[in-house]
Amino acid sequence: MSIALDLSSDLHRFANTLHRPMCDLLGCTWPVVLAGMGGVSRAELVTAVTVAGGFGFLGMVREPTSLILKEVREVRAGTDRKFGVNLIPTATPVDLLDAQIATCIEIGVPVVALFWDVIPAIVRRLRDAGITVAYQIGSIEEARSAEAAGVNFLIVQGREAGGHVRGTQPLAVLLPEVVAGTRLPVLAAGGITEGADVATALSLGAQGVVLGTAMIPTRESFAHSYHKQRIVDAGEHETLLTDSFHINWPKGARVRVLANSVTRGERGDPFGACGTNGTESTVIGEEEGRPIYLFSTDSPLRSMTGDFEAMALYAGTGAERISDITGAATRLHQIVLQAGALLDPGVASVLDRKESAIALSEHMGDERHRTTGRHALLATLNELLEAERAGARVASQMVVEIAEPSLKQMMIAVRQDEARWCGVLTKAIQSLDGSPSRRTGAFYEKAMAVADLWQRMAFLNRGQAWVVRKLHALLPGVDEKQLRAELTAMLASHQENIRLVERQLEAATGGAPPGSA
Ligand SMILES: Cc1cc2nc3c(=O)[nH]c(=O)nc-3n(C[C@H](O)[C@H](O)[C@H](O)COP(=O)(O)O)c2cc1C
Repeated sequence: MSIALDLSSDLHRFANTLHRPMCDLLGCTWPVVLAGMGGVSRAELVTAVTVAGGFGFLGMVREPTSLILKEVREVRAGTDRKFGVNLIPTATPVDLLDAQIATCIEIGVPVVALFWDVIPAIVRRLRDAGITVAYQIGSIEEARSAEAAGVNFLIVQGREAGGHVRGTQPLAVLLPEVVAGTRLPVLAAGGITEGADVATALSLGAQGVVLGTAMIPTRESFAHSYHKQRIVDAGEHETLLTDSFHINWPKGARVRVLANSVTRGERGDPFGACGTNGTESTVIGEEEGRPIYLFSTDSPLRSMTGDFEAMALYAGTGAERISDITGAATRLHQIVLQAGALLDPGVASVLDRKESAIALSEHMGDERHRTTGRHALLATLNELLEAERAGARVASQMVVEIAEPSLKQMMIAVRQDEARWCGVLTKAIQSLDGSPSRRTGAFYEKAMAVADLWQRMAFLNRGQAWVVRKLHALLPGVDEKQLRAELTAMLASHQENIRLVERQLEAATGGAPPGSA
């Protein structure tokens, strides 16, 4: 993104803009949380993130209590702020899990994040000991189970996430569903690597974000430099979901990784005799005397040697947008700064100098900036952004209200599209050095005032038709190739959705859609 802001002087102006109640609960300045990545999120990284104003979880899945004690001691030596520990009950032997929990309670770990199957007894035990508890969830059903179990907040994980992926829905679909369907505060996880992702997640109702992949290629992470570099080198669409790395995990558990010889099937059948039986497993590495097996869930760490290429190279879909190994504080602050610039109502003044420079050069006939109607283009893109945000919110609400499965499915798809176009428009506005609007179009209030669901659906369709008209009028004046292609795709997608909704309306009413003009 191209907004030129000064990291040191502009950062603090965004503290209020980005502050959410979750910051008070976690004792952090920024609503940005380091994921409890097993192996990767150790004391050095957690401390760096915490000192930089974020919040960090130590990734302690299946780790001995001695390591938990050591890492917690180290974090406490580096900061007085709160921090957390991540545990995964389902992937941990019962005795070890019991000892891990007892240790967390004994040493007063402030926050514990849990993942995979929701186990109410564990939540109760931790809460009774005064610990704040989070559950990372992958579906609305799981969110409701975690809420019923008594957790303090949820981490909504979209299928874009690196590492183990619990659910099947993209973040843009699952997040608004959970925000609307539970009363708990939520953090968003999965594919978040830039400020625009944070701004979108906050706009969709999250109180903060969780970063995994973005924090792997940092100097303080415990990942091996091989893993860090593979993320930096990752191209488009290089990650995939697979259940090939499965030793120690329930069958069928999927992880998102970078493609490698294992995912291409060049290392044999992960579920053959070599893959499942410890005694016959192929050793491909070593960590302080502990063998690392082919098809295990271990990822390359600083403390390991071996055939790193064949290990689980966890990465979320955002890997393709990460281009360097940097300090954790720098990565965090860059993301915060971008998000702040997008969401801060007063950011226009930060951009004033730049805007005036462009306006002046337009006036002087500077060829570089003679983008005819740039201001008009930005205004229309922002108008469309507000409309799409309104559309996404209406669709979100309707997903919750609609009971009939195929209709619900259709509305989920509409909502997903609307959220996607919000992202596209936000980026387009940024690329024009504009400031994406934070407002939700008045359409939302108007649509929600329509009580009858069929009539509201027809109203939504009229909103979609307005977008189509707007795009038809706009497109001939758009010179930039990429933007024109994206807006054309947006137009086609709206036309398709209008047809889908019309068909449902016709089926429901035998030909005359209620409320249609
Ligand atoms: C290397 C790596 C290890 C992970 N280990 C864990 C873990 O031990 N426990 C857990 O709850 N989540 C784990 N996750 C998933 C994260 O909690 C989070 O959902 C994910 O990183 C968010 O997506 P992103 O990687 O695209 O930012 C891991 C993710 C990665 C990338």
